[in-house]
Amino acid sequence: MLILGIETSCDETGVALYDTEHGLLAHALFSQIDMHADYGGVVPELASRDHVRKLLPMCDQVLERAGRTRGDIEGIAYTAGPGLIGALMVGGSVAHALGFALGIPVLGVHHMEGHLLAPMLEENPPAFPFVALLVSGGHTQLVRVDGIGAYEMLGESVDDAAGEAFDKAAKMLGLDYPGGPRVAALAEQGTPGRYKFPRPMTDRPGLDFSFSGLKTFTLNTVHAAQKEEGTLSDQTRADIALAFESAVVDTLMIKCRRALEQTGCDRLVIAGGVSANRRLRASLEKMAGKHDAHVFYARPEFCTDNGAMIAYAGAQRLAAGQRDGERIVAVPRWPM
Ligand code: KG4
Ligand code: ZN
Repeated sequence: MLILGIETSCDETGVALYDTEHGLLAHALFSQIDMHADYGGVVPELASRDHVRKLLPMCDQVLERAGRTRGDIEGIAYTAGPGLIGALMVGGSVAHALGFALGIPVLGVHHMEGHLLAPMLEENPPAFPFVALLVSGGHTQLVRVDGIGAYEMLGESVDDAAGEAFDKAAKMLGLDYPGGPRVAALAEQGTPGRYKFPRPMTDRPGLDFSFSGLKTFTLNTVHAAQKEEGTLSDQTRADIALAFESAVVDTLMIKCRRALEQTGCDRLVIAGGVSANRRLRASLEKMAGKHDAHVFYARPEFCTDNGAMIAYAGAQRLAAGQRDGERIVAVPRWPM
């Protein structure tokens, strides 16, 4: 079955063609980051308008790359939520209009299920069951995965998501949006041990997270350093970035270790934008090595938002007979 996947939940337009027999045939991604940079974050109305401009030409682009035509598509999957309502509506409208015109099934899928299954697109995909750490700009969750749609929530953030904390820490350090990769790059120059940040909620049992205290701790550290130095030196900024990143990474690693112990699983999947973080990957691999466990993740471009993960997740469900009715599904807030 040849599936067209469409992702427009936030500030990336992603399109992909996935074949249930031959795998991923082509994909295209357009990031709106430059457009939103001046505003310090994503402007929803601008995001929707740009998806309108890019989406259909990108659909034709992936078809051309794969040597196929619109008539070859056998099903369409689009991100139905969670996300920005206007942006979601663009993807849903195009998917349903194309599906109606071509007379093929259409299905809205959950954005986080897309992230969760993105490592399945890689060469050695994890077998079920596994524990997944979902770490994106809007979510921090530990999930036990027994199969497509068989998800048990083990723990989640009670306040900010890990990616959100990265983005806010970046702002405090004078870095642009999205902050995660920029904080990580700055931390490369940091001096280990100069600042010691807390590892929130690791001293009590359970698999929930909290990152808002870390945000306050970062702000207080920046203010204290400003009192001492005036304008922060590049070294101090790097030292704070490293202390912050290490605290987030350690906290995530401790909870993942606990989740593996608790479930008895020996496979850990990490997905979502923050799973691109190199220090996080290294820390989880080291921990897994000690527990005879394996860590799975997607290539960096499939860690952040993309069309391939939606095409894959949708293909699994469309092939099993699931489809939308005639209505476009767009759900801004949608628990998985
Ligand atoms: O999954 P994603 O692209 O979008 C959402 O569904 O939210 O995740 C974006 C988040 C942003 O908060 C970004 O700062 C973070 O992922 N991120 C990173 C890295 N790359 C992206 N955080 C830490 N280190 C990275 N290398
Ligand atoms: Zn995402």
